[in-house]
Amino acid sequence: MNTTDGLQPPASFPLGKMTAAIFLRDYWQKKPCLLRAVWPEIENCLPVNADELAGIAAEENTEARLISGTHTKRNWKVEYGPFESQDYTQLGETDWTLLVQDVEKHYPPLKQWLSNFRFLPSWRLDDIMISFAASGGSVGPHTDQYDVFLFQASGKRRWQISDTYNPELLDHEEIKVLREFNADQSWDLEPGDLLYLPPNVAHFGVALEPCLSYSIGLRAPSRAELFAHLAEWFARSDDQGGRYEDADLISNDIETSTGEVDPQAIMRVQQLLNSSFSSSHELTQNPDLADWFCQFICAYRLSGSPEPAHITLTESKMAGLLADGGVIYRNPWSRFCWRSDNNSAWLYATAMKIECQPQLAELICESADTLDLKHKNISLNTATIQVITALYNKGHFFFENND
Ligand code: SIN
Ligand code: CO
Repeated sequence: MNTTDGLQPPASFPLGKMTAAIFLRDYWQKKPCLLRAVWPEIENCLPVNADELAGIAAEENTEARLISGTHTKRNWKVEYGPFESQDYTQLGETDWTLLVQDVEKHYPPLKQWLSNFRFLPSWRLDDIMISFAASGGSVGPHTDQYDVFLFQASGKRRWQISDTYNPELLDHEEIKVLREFNADQSWDLEPGDLLYLPPNVAHFGVALEPCLSYSIGLRAPSRAELFAHLAEWFARSDDQGGRYEDADLISNDIETSTGEVDPQAIMRVQQLLNSSFSSSHELTQNPDLADWFCQFICAYRLSGSPEPAHITLTESKMAGLLADGGVIYRNPWSRFCWRSDNNSAWLYATAMKIECQPQLAELICESADTLDLKHKNISLNTATIQVITALYNKGHFFFENND
C-alpha cells in the first residue's frame, strides 16, 4: 500500500473551494452537492488500489460483498467475503462491484482522510467504504438512510439521482434495490470529483470504466434504535418508573369479561408510557441522559470492538515508555467522543468512560493513526498518564511491536 502519499488529503478535500459554512448552510442534510476536482491528483497517490482492496477483501474479519447484475436485467446477485481471485474471474469483465466496509480500520493510515471532515462532529463519521467496479458495475438504484460523500478515486462513474421516487423495491432477499428509477440529474464523475448525498435521495451509480469509489459514510441513530437502547438502560436503573396501576377497576367489568385486555387497560398502559416523556419524568429529564447517549454512540453499529490489553501497564511504566519517546497507536476500531459536565470533562470510548481534560480529549478524538501529544503541547502529567494508561489497558491504544 502507498505509505508516503495519498494519506493526508489536500486542504481542498472534500469541499473544494466551497466553505464549510456554505456547505452546512445550503447542502448538509438538505440537498445533493456535486464538487468537481476537489483532489484531481488522487489517481497518482491512491492509498488503496484495486489489488490492495482485493487483498483486504480476502481477510477473514473483513465485511466485503460482491454485487453483480444490471438494472435492465434486474438480475442482482450478492456474495459475501472473504474472496479469492477466482471469485472475481468467475464474474467476467463487466457488471460487478466489490464493496469493502471499514477500510480505514483495516488500513489505519487512511483514517487521516477523516481529519478533513472536521466541519462535522467526529462522532458522526462512520467509516470509509471502498468499492471497485468493473465496467457496467453497479449496486442498483437505491436510497441510503445516512449521508454519504461519494469520492471518485479512479476511473469514471455515472451517478444519477432522483429526489422523488417510487419506494417499491425489487423482490430480493439480500439487497434493497428500487424496482423503478427515473433520474432527475446525471453526472459523470472523474477522478477527484465528489458527490455529497443527504439521506433518502435515490441514487444509481454505474461504472463507465473500471473504477474505484471511496464513500465516507455518516451514522445517525433512528428514534427506534435510541428507544431500544434507552429502554435497556432504564430497565437496569433502580427507579423502574412506576408500575401498571388499576385502582379505578369496577367489579362489573371483571365479572363480565375475565381474561379480556379491555380498552381501559390499554389506556392505563398508554398513560404509564406517556408519563416517561412528560417534562417532569426522570427518563427524559434524567441528568445522565447525556452520559447514556455518549456511551451509546461510541458503540453504535460498530462491527468490531477493541480487546483489553493482554498485559496491562501501570501508570509509572506508561510514564517511562512515553518519556522514552514511545509512539502510541490508536486501535482503529476504537471510537471516541467527549463532553463537558459542569467543571469536568469526560472522554468516552467503546465500553468505557474516564474524566479527562478537554484538550487531551479533543486530541484523542481527532487522532488518526497515532496520538501526537506534542501537537497540542499536552504535558505528560499524572492526569494525562492516567487517561492514556486506562485507554491502553482497555485496548484502545497500543505501542508498535507490543501486545
Ligand atoms: C458504490 O460504491 O458502488 C455504492 C455506494 C453507494 O451507493 O452508496
Ligand atoms: Co448508496
